[in-house]
Amino acid sequence: MTHPSLTGKALVANAFHAPDCGAVEFLPDVAIFIDADGRIEKVSHDIPENAVRLPKGQYLLPGLVDLHVHAPQFPQLGSALDAPLEDWLQIYTFPLEAKYSDTTFAAEVYGALIDHMLRCGTTTTLHFATIHLPATRILADICITKGQRALIGKVAMDHPDTCPDYYRDANADTAVAETRALIDYINTHPENAAGRVMPVITPRFVPACTDACLHGLGQLAAETGTRIQTHVSESDWEHSHVRDRMGMSDTEALDHFGLLRDHTVLAHANFLSGRDMELIATRNGGIAHCPWSNIYFANAVFPLREALARGVQVGLGTDISGGPIGTIWEAARMSVAVSRMLDSGTDPARAPQDRGRAGSRIDIATAFHLATRGGAKALGLDVGTFQPGMRFDAIAIDPAAPAGQIISHGNPPPLQMLEKIIYGATKANIASVWSDGVQRVRA
Ligand code: GUN
Ligand code: FE
Repeated sequence: MTHPSLTGKALVANAFHAPDCGAVEFLPDVAIFIDADGRIEKVSHDIPENAVRLPKGQYLLPGLVDLHVHAPQFPQLGSALDAPLEDWLQIYTFPLEAKYSDTTFAAEVYGALIDHMLRCGTTTTLHFATIHLPATRILADICITKGQRALIGKVAMDHPDTCPDYYRDANADTAVAETRALIDYINTHPENAAGRVMPVITPRFVPACTDACLHGLGQLAAETGTRIQTHVSESDWEHSHVRDRMGMSDTEALDHFGLLRDHTVLAHANFLSGRDMELIATRNGGIAHCPWSNIYFANAVFPLREALARGVQVGLGTDISGGPIGTIWEAARMSVAVSRMLDSGTDPARAPQDRGRAGSRIDIATAFHLATRGGAKALGLDVGTFQPGMRFDAIAIDPAAPAGQIISHGNPPPLQMLEKIIYGATKANIASVWSDGVQRVRA
């Protein structure tokens, strides 16, 4: 069963969304009216005669938001995770990223990545590309053509002590000038009038950038209002490297260079102090929580509940390929699992009361919010719920798809069904994917 594009139509479905953190709403048999531009006009129980109906047994969810992806690392997904971050970059990742000087290779990988992500239900992604402007333009072209809502950054990295000669911006001026060129390219792209693809200023992380580069990118952000993404306090090594170099925390250093602004997204953020979190909240920045990747590179669990309690916006990231699995379904499941581990602790040699950090656990409803509206809010985008004014980015889930692994016998009640979807959904269960009301994938 396929569905036409829905612009100018109403879709009737059993829908789930989570406008607020920690609470799921089930909208049974609801009509979602979508305007000619793909925005939700109205959500109603009055069903028009000519409405399109989701097939019986399917559920409508907001499209998933992935707040942290390294697009060029897609070929490495699910491998090469046997070294700490600082070695992994040098041994595996910089040599792979350097290959994107070849635009044919870039077009091939980026096309396959965006097809894969859309098929998995990820309708919005915050992408790191590589240092190469031509290949990064190709990633933008592909996202425009295929319909993924995407924020795309040319990676800036010019520090000669941490970046190899074969893979580094020539100097700070080049890093800033090419970042500006990408911003102009995307913002004036003739096929991007709807603005579904956006540029993002992308210093790789403080250790990879000179002060001049960080300063220049901060100025560019202030001048153009372009969003920013980077990594912050990911590992013990990274966190202490910045403290040793700058005499302040990683978060404070970013703020010092004008890189902590409205909707700056910081990946990982595992070793933040309470003050760092409050500074991020004050600047209205957000955090990309990457639970899988943190297992390999952080050697710690991100204190998600604490960040939420301090008012920081949080969404989920796969961190392709620092995390071995490239779907937000997996990130959502793992965010629940690792929060339980932080909560109760992991070392059986310790007494239960000394084993963990009580009050750290999250539930599926919170994970679902983070995977959808949470990520969207961190980016300041009008997606992630079925409310008037939102863009219609959505996925249809078929829990009973024969090739899937969701066990849904006996017609479970709606909230139990959603739990089963979050724990079990794979590509096989995704019957349809829309962005801006236009169908991008069908089963
Ligand atoms: N820190 C700097 N670069 C990277 C990267 O590519 N992946 C991850 N996980 N952390 C980084
Ligand atoms: Fe990363």
